Amino acid sequence: MVRETRLSREQLVMPLFVRDMPEERRAIASMPGQSQLSLTALVTEARELYRRGVPAIILFGIPEHKDAQGSEGHSPDGIIARAIAAVKDAVPELLVFADVCLCEYTDHGHCGVLVDGDVDNDATLPLLAREAITYARAGADVIAPSDMMDGRVGAIRDALDENGFQDRSIVSYAVKYASAFYGPFRAAAESAPQEGDRRGYQMDPANVREAFREAALDLEEGADVLMVKPALAYLDVLRALRDRFDVPLAAYSVSGEYAMVEAAAAAGHIDRRAVILETLGSVRRAGADILLTYWAGEVAEWL
Ligand code: PBG
Repeated sequence: MVRETRLSREQLVMPLFVRDMPEERRAIASMPGQSQLSLTALVTEARELYRRGVPAIILFGIPEHKDAQGSEGHSPDGIIARAIAAVKDAVPELLVFADVCLCEYTDHGHCGVLVDGDVDNDATLPLLAREAITYARAGADVIAPSDMMDGRVGAIRDALDENGFQDRSIVSYAVKYASAFYGPFRAAAESAPQEGDRRGYQMDPANVREAFREAALDLEEGADVLMVKPALAYLDVLRALRDRFDVPLAAYSVSGEYAMVEAAAAAGHIDRRAVILETLGSVRRAGADILLTYWAGEVAEWL
């Protein structure tokens, strides 16, 4: 009765990886327990998550074909557009978040298009808007831009409204740090930059005031929910945002956080279940309303 914060199923979002492939599942070595899923396996997984009471998933695609513009990201025949449609068809009540970014679809692995070897912020915006429309048309309930280009929330909001998707929400990865904790994800999504790094567009881990500026800009441009990413190493940032902004906050417990706990548990150093619940509980305590976590399916069974 006196507990101040609680974890509940209604807050969970499960990230899933989808790929066109003959086999049902391909285990992800960098994230033990997680797999790339075929379209069929994705639908089975979506049904099971919904049965367990997980209200939402977020999808990441591994395309057949990558190019400089990340064309498969906005193609209606691309893996994510088809995956969204398949899930919404099979489990219409399950919310589908569509991650919008170019890095999974570009051959160079950057989150925007390159001009003379550098990411061109403004040239990237129309491509992101196009990707968002493709996913909205396929049935995505929530558009979640993770690219960190300036002005993308506004560009996406305008494009959604102009195309009759006023009802879709934007969960913005507003405060996304240039973090080493994404390593296992990049192996899973095959999206590591071929050259350079993401420090030009993602945030410096040393900064917190910058997070307020990023958050304020995204809200002004039309974001409905703000996200902080990663979660565990940035709980102070989450708390500071909670104290300043009255919109719902999401936190992404990223692949590196997952991999650390799984490795320590596999070695017998920690009590896996207790550490997972304590970790996610700390993210709630810091102020997150919505939790993106690779443990969503499992945690939903425990609660
Ligand atoms: C795409 C994206 C990334 C993650 C989510 N969306 C990778 C990155 O920015 O390099 C990371 C998620 C995780 O590590 O679990 N831009």
